[in-house]
Amino acid sequence: MLRFPFLPPVTPFLFSALVVSGLTSKALHLALHFNSLPFLYFVLFSPTLVLPDVLVIICVRWLLQYPSPETRWQWISTAIGAFLSLATWGACSIQIGFFMQTGAEVSWSASNSFISDPAAMKILLSGISTVSAAGTVLGLVAWLIHSQLYHWIGIGLHSLREMCLGGLRAPQRLPVDIRSLTAKPHIPAVDPRALRRIAPAAAACVSLLFLELTRPSVPYDHLSGALPVTLLDAFHSKANVAKGCRTPSLPFPLWEEDSTASFHHIVKPEEGEEGWIRPAWLPLNPGPGFRRLDTSPAELRVADNHYAYVCDGDEGGYYYPEKDPLKISNLDSDIFEPLQKAFQDHPVEIEHIIVLTLESGRKDLFPVQQGTPLFEGLLASHKKANYDEAIDRLVGATPVAQMLTGEYATDSKGKLVDLSNATWQDSAAEGMGGINVRGAVTGSSLTFKSFLNSHCGVNPLPVDLLEESLLEIYQPCLPQILELFNELKTRANKTLMTPEPFSNPWKSVFLQSITDDYDRQDILNDHIGFKHKVVKKTLEAKDAKHKPKGEEINYFGYAETELRPYIQDLIDEAVQNHTRLFLSHVTSTTHHPWSPPENYTKEPYVADQGNINHDLMNNYLNTVRFVDNWIGDILGMLDESGIANQTLVVVVGDHGQAFGEDDRDHTGTYNNGHVSNFRVPLVFRHPQMPRVDIAANATALSILPTILDLLIQSKSLPANDAAIAASLLPEYQGQSLLRPFLSSIEEPPHHHPDTDYIPGGTSPHFGEEVNITVSTSSHMKRSSDERGSHRKGPLRRSAWNMGMVNAGGAMMAVSAADVPYRLILPMKEDFEYRFTNVGVDPGEKDPISAWSLDDLVEDVYAKHGEDAAAWIQDAEKVGFWYINEQKRIWGWRDA
Ligand SMILES: *[C@@H]1O[C@H](CO)[C@@H](O)[C@H](O)[C@H]1NC(C)=O
Ligand SMILES: *[C@@H]1O[C@H](CO)[C@@H](O)[C@H](O)[C@H]1NC(C)=O
Ligand SMILES: *[C@@H]1O[C@H](CO)[C@@H](O)[C@H](O)[C@H]1NC(C)=O
Ligand SMILES: *[C@@H]1O[C@H](CO)[C@@H](O)[C@H](O)[C@H]1NC(C)=O
Ligand SMILES: *[C@@H]1O[C@H](CO)[C@@H](O)[C@H](O)[C@H]1NC(C)=O
Repeated sequence: MLRFPFLPPVTPFLFSALVVSGLTSKALHLALHFNSLPFLYFVLFSPTLVLPDVLVIICVRWLLQYPSPETRWQWISTAIGAFLSLATWGACSIQIGFFMQTGAEVSWSASNSFISDPAAMKILLSGISTVSAAGTVLGLVAWLIHSQLYHWIGIGLHSLREMCLGGLRAPQRLPVDIRSLTAKPHIPAVDPRALRRIAPAAAACVSLLFLELTRPSVPYDHLSGALPVTLLDAFHSKANVAKGCRTPSLPFPLWEEDSTASFHHIVKPEEGEEGWIRPAWLPLNPGPGFRRLDTSPAELRVADNHYAYVCDGDEGGYYYPEKDPLKISNLDSDIFEPLQKAFQDHPVEIEHIIVLTLESGRKDLFPVQQGTPLFEGLLASHKKANYDEAIDRLVGATPVAQMLTGEYATDSKGKLVDLSNATWQDSAAEGMGGINVRGAVTGSSLTFKSFLNSHCGVNPLPVDLLEESLLEIYQPCLPQILELFNELKTRANKTLMTPEPFSNPWKSVFLQSITDDYDRQDILNDHIGFKHKVVKKTLEAKDAKHKPKGEEINYFGYAETELRPYIQDLIDEAVQNHTRLFLSHVTSTTHHPWSPPENYTKEPYVADQGNINHDLMNNYLNTVRFVDNWIGDILGMLDESGIANQTLVVVVGDHGQAFGEDDRDHTGTYNNGHVSNFRVPLVFRHPQMPRVDIAANATALSILPTILDLLIQSKSLPANDAAIAASLLPEYQGQSLLRPFLSSIEEPPHHHPDTDYIPGGTSPHFGEEVNITVSTSSHMKRSSDERGSHRKGPLRRSAWNMGMVNAGGAMMAVSAADVPYRLILPMKEDFEYRFTNVGVDPGEKDPISAWSLDDLVEDVYAKHGEDAAAWIQDAEKVGFWYINEQKRIWGWRDA
């Protein structure tokens, strides 16, 4: 009757794969969180943590009980069991592969967006070798122990059942179906005294149940999640675009209830009332981004669904700067004196604007210089004897960044680095070059969320991936403003007598040498207002003007140097045709997996001391040098074409990139709040502007307002355009970096002179001769009726920075420009709170993590004192308020 040994061992093997994968996955899962758990609780609750796995194993063992299925039911049961086993095996392999690459956990809930996206699938496939290696090892282990595992768990379950049944209706005989479970061993007859034996088992069950019911849901619910059940997360429908009226803001948590009531009730002035001013320049049917400025009564508006958000006159959801408790305006202060002087002394012309977004651009590598935590880490990979050589090689990696920022690096002998071999030489006069910001942080470690900061002056949505592409961006983006300038001029052309300077039309172009299919980026770029683009598709088109010369460098596309002839064409065209160029370029080689083109000579920036693998970092550093050369190449093209003196070049990192050198256990940007993912370079380069060095924790949110301010201040716009720019400027959330950055202010909440609500400001009617007082925003002041503050005494408001951690919906980095603290705020129960003080720990080597805010506050209080502990509590409240508010402003509703 021994049928089992003669059958193909498929069923036992599958079962064994399930057990091995499920338990490995759970072990990895627990190990990742082990440090953050109180040991005693961990031990106490550990039975409940593995309970789901035990249940899965029992269930699948029951499904897979037929080594050779015969009846239809047996086939079905086996098929289901096999499916669950294979899913678990695959998922665990992915989990291990992902962990080995990034040190993070896969979040299955984000995976459904990936699977429907070919470019995203390529990212996943890039790690396929680690995943298949993990799968092979799991399979091997499962194979080795499959017969024992299947056999003994079968016996175990059987006797368990017998014991229970036997205990209840002892004595019992052997059940008939025992042979199907396992035929080999002799099953002992049930003891008649089993009833007494069942007592401890029952007690165990009751205690387990008790533990299960009493344990805190965070983090233990997440920790106990078992494959393949957690895979179901992928099928949760995510969320939705809000239809109909949006809910009003929640009260801002740091203000007393009564004093804030009026602030939060959105008062939309009616026609005829004081304050009802529709910007005169606003076209009748304004385009996306401008629509919230249209305060016309409903019957005057063109029927269109974009007004669906405005309900009952005084409710609504659009962004209102004067209602925004996080907005701090510095437009009342004067611009920096050296700049003021420069604008008076000689013309600073901005005919063209170039925004270079550096993929994974870390501030501490722009330029590479000594004295940063990362530099120390890189040096430590070398033998002491080689330090000098290593330093000299490293500090020479980014000469162009040195010239752009004016942060000149020193070599091993303390001398300034010789930059004469760089791909570009700065022709600006001594002391000229523009604004360099030290301390800037990104608004998101997901590239195109951060792109929304810099190009539209808006904060992204705190949800996974580019859901913003489904929605209307709540402010006009730079290309849309420039397009509006074009439109208004075309319409008015007949009446305009003499052409003014700077009245040439703008042309906005987006360039990147990689695909723009990834995660609906092409749709987003469309919404931002780019009418022209050069992307991978353009390079590969049959009739491409310039075919790529090299191979693809990563799973997204080509090296950015393939864009060179296209950029040259655009510059030539601008010069010949008298167009004003707005060129936005995102680099690509510095993206994972950091492979420069084949023929590029790699330098050994790191060696092999210590126990971290530095290969990835070395690849990355080489791509950083590659991109530094490339920036020099672009600047050189501007010089050669003779437009450098009329071109503003903005350089910003989309986000940083954390490596093992920063934190051994967490690398990459995905679900990783490390500060190295957030510090970015930010430069406003113009050869005719004096160098101004700013230390401020600004974000890319400042880029658009700064560009507008610069265009106005340098008189690089015709009068009407300047008036529009001036009336738009105070609508944006970011501060202008032409003026001292305010890390915090003390004022009553209602007193924002420059933003007291007039949409678009009181700009002059189009066509009127205007004389713009550009140094302050005083012309935008309104003879305002105070909307009444009940608050006594001044109120301190911080410039908060909210950084959405890639992919956007799981955790948020909360910081404020006036304190050195950072809080990583979990937005899902699966993640911990994490605190750091970059004032004393700039490399975040020593974070404090906890599963609850109370625990975190306690630990932080002990280590960093009362201020820090109090700050965390504020930061948490403001953070959660902000998350809700951002969704409201965007018109997003969670499913
Ligand atoms: C510049 O390049 C030349 C030729 O490759 C080389 O001999 C020289 O040492 C380099 N100078 C510096 C400062 O790197
Ligand atoms: C904030 O800016 C200062 C320089 O002003 C810098 O030292 C600090 O590291 C910045 N904070 C973060 C989180 O980058
Ligand atoms: C590498 O190859 C590309 C494309 O073929 C070419 O444009 C470039 O000049 C080459 N670079 C070097 C350093 O040879
Ligand atoms: C200049 O503009 C004209 C018409 O707008 C266009 O046909 C022509 O191709 C442009 N010239 C260049 C060099 O792009
Ligand atoms: C740019 O301006 C500087 C100083 O004003 C001048 O020396 C230089 O020749 C100008 N460059 C071009 C290309 O006109």
